[in-house]
Amino acid sequence: MPKVTIDNITIDVPPGTTILNAARMIGENVPPAMCYYSKLKGSGGKCRVCLVKVTKTSEQNPRGMPKLVASCVTQIADGMVVENITSPEVVEARKGVVELLLINHPLDCPVCDQAGECHLQDLSYEHGAATTRYDFGRRTFNKIDIGPYIQLHMTRCILCYRCVYTADQLTDGRVHGIINRGDAAEISTYIENIIDNDFSGNVIDVCPVGALTDRTFRFKSRVWFTKPMNAHRNCDKCSGKVTLWFQGEEVLRVTGRKDQYGEVEEFICNTCRFETKKKSDWVVEGHRRIDTHSVIAQNHLPYELDVVHPQIEQAQ
Ligand code: SF4
Ligand code: FES
Repeated sequence: MPKVTIDNITIDVPPGTTILNAARMIGENVPPAMCYYSKLKGSGGKCRVCLVKVTKTSEQNPRGMPKLVASCVTQIADGMVVENITSPEVVEARKGVVELLLINHPLDCPVCDQAGECHLQDLSYEHGAATTRYDFGRRTFNKIDIGPYIQLHMTRCILCYRCVYTADQLTDGRVHGIINRGDAAEISTYIENIIDNDFSGNVIDVCPVGALTDRTFRFKSRVWFTKPMNAHRNCDKCSGKVTLWFQGEEVLRVTGRKDQYGEVEEFICNTCRFETKKKSDWVVEGHRRIDTHSVIAQNHLPYELDVVHPQIEQAQ
């Protein structure tokens, strides 16, 4: 098995593994990812937040790579040495990428449903500059209702393509994509055509920002005031394994279960997501693990999956 060293930690990985996935196997100093999604074929290589420095290309080629590379699409070679947060160049470049992503992104976190669980918000806290150098007007779009359940707010979109791959790979036939190029690029309104599909709601879960939101949840609460619980039901379309977001006894929304990288473990169907919102519809399993790294953790105590913290138990 090829060996790769990332931030001074060496690991053996299967041939063909990307640097990002090798870092995920190590579990420390994992580069952020805004467009790569392990469950979506072809994703990655769009946002550049996962840039790393390769200081040794392989055992055969001890020279480093001349430029920083996107770790989500660069495969490791035996003997490769990579720097992520140990490289000041990478940290500085990531700051620049975040600044670029924010050029056209409205700073409307106080009114955005995604606030608290937005990857761009987390990234800005960790890598962003405190001020903007951008004097020009931001591009803006009208909101588009994609059927009764989903709203597209293109103004917030970072063109990561995740929703395009989701629609492409989970629904029958491709019906939406990104049209135009450069700063005129936008998610095509063809996206409206995916509403008939049972799995269309997954575009909400894969969107790293608040560009695609759940119309049944919009403005009902802030996520940090809700109580996320894992639950399941018998479903003939999907696994039926979800996270329920409670306020008191009321289920405000249903989402797929997400792992520590913010990716859903399994895609869920629209019936589970939008049409089964009574607590009695579900078998509640226990708390969802809250990632301390995320803004959503502000109102939650950190705890491990399935281990109920005594203070949380008391608070219920
Ligand atoms: S709408 Fe969301 S998921 Fe789709 S390209 Fe834009 S940011 Fe990515
Ligand atoms: S996560 Fe690698 S380029 Fe977006």
